[in-house]
Amino acid sequence: MIFDNFFGMVKLSIVVFTPIIFYSLMTFIAVIFGSIIFAIVKKSKKALLLALVAFLCIGGLALIRFSPRTYERAYLTDYTEHISNNKAITLRDVAEERSIFIGCSDTLANIDAQGYDEMIGTEFNSFTPENAFKWSKLLVNGELGNYDFTEADKYLEFAKEHDMRLRGHALVWGKGYPAELQQMIANAENPEEFMKNAIDEHISAVVGRYKGEITVWDVVNEPMDLMEPALEENIFFNAMGEDYIKYAFYAAHRADPDAKLVLNSYIGADPDFLYNLLSDMISEGVPITGFGLQGHVMDKPGDIDKIVDFLQRVSDLGLDVEITEMDVRLRAVEGFGGHHDIYENQGNYYGLLLERCLEIENFTGITTWGVSDRNTWYDSTPPYAWMQPTAPLLFDDELEKKPAYYHIFDVLAEN
Ligand code: GLA
Repeated sequence: MIFDNFFGMVKLSIVVFTPIIFYSLMTFIAVIFGSIIFAIVKKSKKALLLALVAFLCIGGLALIRFSPRTYERAYLTDYTEHISNNKAITLRDVAEERSIFIGCSDTLANIDAQGYDEMIGTEFNSFTPENAFKWSKLLVNGELGNYDFTEADKYLEFAKEHDMRLRGHALVWGKGYPAELQQMIANAENPEEFMKNAIDEHISAVVGRYKGEITVWDVVNEPMDLMEPALEENIFFNAMGEDYIKYAFYAAHRADPDAKLVLNSYIGADPDFLYNLLSDMISEGVPITGFGLQGHVMDKPGDIDKIVDFLQRVSDLGLDVEITEMDVRLRAVEGFGGHHDIYENQGNYYGLLLERCLEIENFTGITTWGVSDRNTWYDSTPPYAWMQPTAPLLFDDELEKKPAYYHIFDVLAEN
């Protein structure tokens, strides 16, 4: 998760609460505290009153932003005549007509709990295990080098059973690494060498085990800083500098020369920075084959022209491009698209982005980060968890298809 560490959460909160709101909140808080201290020191009623007013303003703002809302689900009746409901044609059918992947991530626990494994197999042809392949999750008691693949194997079985591609997610990531690595790096005489070995061992163990079975890997996940046009200064960067990225790709290529190797990320503060990183890797002959755009829409929808322009440039480098983790938080699209129905606006964003991506030569597919709105990381991650409903996916809590589903379907079905 993005929020696996505290500083990640603070940084992201700053991005979410766009600077103006963030700084006004800070000012209000400063005024409240200042007034209280002043009131105590000077025994001033005016200062106390000021503190009270500021408190009420903050409370009001918080109420507006955080109070739960309800939206009518007009789609339950609006789409009853839709072809996908009447002829049992699925997203998978229309995606396969175009030879692209339509995918979802999930956990087997969620799938079992709501019992939708058959539905996944008919609607999607690609599957990303949400956590099971993350470094920290593959280890026994977090002990470096001590792997237990039982859980991961179940995911591969699941994908095979439903004839789906499995995306291996994610080998090297500044958040999903074992806690023990931190301590060992801190004690290492030569942190760079230690890290190289750790990356090598991990990648050869995991990619090697699934050689020929898992054909695509997110080799490096989220290397970008959230706010600066720079690489994130994570544990790998601190030990090896920017070379850790190339190093991981070479290790993955050694472990399975036929696997597709992807750098998976958000675009970050400056598309040119990421573009240059990718193009330098290509010029140096690093064995990267694709770029995965995560596609979480957390706060406000990104500018579709800019996103497509970026992906087009990346495709022109000869890399496959794919959307790998899309989920559009419902309340983030309140002002998008101008439709009175917020679910339509959400569907519109999914559809418009996909429609434009389909024009990109090396576009290979789209995966949503989850299946049912009942299971989304937003609901366990503040501040989003406080802004209900988050409902970012194609199927609602009761597994009813949402406009997002139908918009994607129609875009894929168009000639
Ligand atoms: C990132 C990671 C995913 C997942 C999501 C949501 O995008 O790549 O594995 O953890 O955050 O939490």
